[in-house]
Amino acid sequence: MQTSIKIKQNTFADDVTQGLSASPKFLSSKYFYDDEGSRLFQEIMKLPEYYLTRAEFEIFSEQTNEIFSAFNADDSPFDLIELGAGDGTKTSLLVDYFLKQNAGFTYIPIDISAKALNTLTAKFEKEFPQLRIQTKQGDYFKTLKTLGAKTSKKKIILFLGSNIGNFRQEQAKEFFTGLRAVMNKNDLLFIGFDLQKDPQTILDAYSDKQGVTDAFNINLLKRVNRELGANFDPKEFSHYAIYHPIEGAARSFLISQKKQTVFIESLNKNFDFEAWEPIFMEISQKYSLKMIEELAKESGFQIEKNFFDSKNYYADSLWKPI
Ligand code: AVI
Repeated sequence: MQTSIKIKQNTFADDVTQGLSASPKFLSSKYFYDDEGSRLFQEIMKLPEYYLTRAEFEIFSEQTNEIFSAFNADDSPFDLIELGAGDGTKTSLLVDYFLKQNAGFTYIPIDISAKALNTLTAKFEKEFPQLRIQTKQGDYFKTLKTLGAKTSKKKIILFLGSNIGNFRQEQAKEFFTGLRAVMNKNDLLFIGFDLQKDPQTILDAYSDKQGVTDAFNINLLKRVNRELGANFDPKEFSHYAIYHPIEGAARSFLISQKKQTVFIESLNKNFDFEAWEPIFMEISQKYSLKMIEELAKESGFQIEKNFFDSKNYYADSLWKPI
């Protein structure tokens, strides 16, 4: 008899309880992206200090032909699969170029959020009426596994925007090893990495002058207020970012400005904060080329080619399974 093990998915309330009961306290950055958080992230991407989006955009617009050649070396039809597609601005540069080259491909964005997928589909259908697009809502690994089981067509998987930076290094390795397990030998993986650079440039990107990153972090406390009936006073917490040049990691915190107690109604629980106590909010890991090489190798890949912006701030790295 086969037994089926059900892994319980944590809810927002479970994760908030766990994070605020821990020492030191933490909240998971995966919860930043409610409607208001997604809007604030769009604002962040336009900030003068936040160079990441512009660097990746430059790579996609200046090296479209080279990217296409690397993707299409064997001239076989492929599925262009994007994990967490967002608003698709960068991908639309590739899609546009690939269509003009008459490439035989289907664009398959995968996202947890149905709303994000609907917005993206509406935009792409209008912009590229001839594009074959198939959206998949749900978990990346499960969806990739079902896609792989249905067809042996080459898969080119995109994981852009330095999203991997929000994973700790061991989580990144686990993530890519998981992807490797659902990929065939001729598939490719294309990943956006933010590179290590002048620490001040990195720090500025996470502590912008206009305070948008501050609002982005504070919004998670407001989300706990909205969704779990908490009474966080946003004025009593302030955003603080650091960059650690040895680890190559930027980290964001919210600092309690005074000794205070926050009540969360739906948990029926109080949480005490000391004056100046931090809540760890987010890691944004920056990579060296050596780290990228090691990560590829440890997860079962080799680097086919790296694409850099003109300042060498950022790399889109093309990996193939070993
Ligand atoms: C989505 N992610 C790659 C962003 C980053 O750079 O870590 C999120 C972000 N946090 C603060 N600013 C941007």
